[in-house]
Amino acid sequence: MENRILIVDDEKTIYSVIARRLAMEGYSCAMAINGREALGYFSKNNCSLIISDIRMPEMNGLELLKNVKAVRPDMMFIIMTAYPEIDMAVEAIRLGANDFIIKPVDLELMVFSVKKVLERKRMEEEIETHHKNLEKLVEERTSKLREALLVLKKTHLDSVKVLAGAIDAKDPYTRGHSDRVRKMSMKIGMKLSFTKERLENLFFGALLHDIGKIGIRDEVLQKKGQLTPEEYQYVQQHPLIGVKIIEGIDFFKDKISMIRNHHEHFDGGGYPDGLMGETIPLEARIIAVSDAFDAMTSLRPHRKAMPVEDVILEMEKGKGRQFDPQVLEIFLNEKIYQ
Ligand SMILES: [Fe+2]
Repeated sequence: MENRILIVDDEKTIYSVIARRLAMEGYSCAMAINGREALGYFSKNNCSLIISDIRMPEMNGLELLKNVKAVRPDMMFIIMTAYPEIDMAVEAIRLGANDFIIKPVDLELMVFSVKKVLERKRMEEEIETHHKNLEKLVEERTSKLREALLVLKKTHLDSVKVLAGAIDAKDPYTRGHSDRVRKMSMKIGMKLSFTKERLENLFFGALLHDIGKIGIRDEVLQKKGQLTPEEYQYVQQHPLIGVKIIEGIDFFKDKISMIRNHHEHFDGGGYPDGLMGETIPLEARIIAVSDAFDAMTSLRPHRKAMPVEDVILEMEKGKGRQFDPQVLEIFLNEKIYQ
């Protein structure tokens, strides 16, 4: 059944001779006397090869070939042609025939051609199966890797959140500060059409901008009342302490500038580097705006929380001084703080 060969010829004797010879090789054959009958057989039965004459009544071999290849491009097809019509054999090959046999048929050459064509079909099928298996394997591996990456990212995010929690825990007055700064900074980044990758960096940079506070003594951070100038100077070291904490970790390399420079002022009056204008990384300028807003609206040891309207007025005064005017405009106009 698997290697059934359909022989299409209007002369029954040719069919008998060919079928008998192919039976000796273990093939079973079916017969059709023209293209139309062959198509009928082909649509209802399985066969792996068609051997067809060219000149036949009703539907000739070339038309049959076209019809068969249109439905089953992988169907093997050998055309039989008399020597004077050799140009038709060329046309048949162009249409997708796999081989041609010159009439009168040399049976040994025919057997050779049939074996060659069927072997090729077998190999093509094997390659196809192999490809499918390979695709399936790659798909399975990819989805497993994807799952593993998700778990890894989630675990990673969890540990960073724990770290951010630790920063806020050092300073009870700023509970939730890191996460609020993260949220507002992300909104600004989105308004600035940051790429997904840049937003992800900003996510972690903003969440950890105050990580250096872990290294500041509690009695200073939690001091009730104004800080002395020395204490104030000491607290101002937190961006550089933050850099020291994370600089050895590969993942944080592209977040270093956000941690180091989130207290720079647009006019150059900030710390620790006194950077000015656009030499301050944009992400750090974004965090500076969100950070200042959240600091002013939060209760602090030495002062009460300010009402939002007052904070907005205060921030407007800092436009171009403490804050990047473009970032501040987005923050206020788009009501990022809401
Ligand atoms: Fe800070």
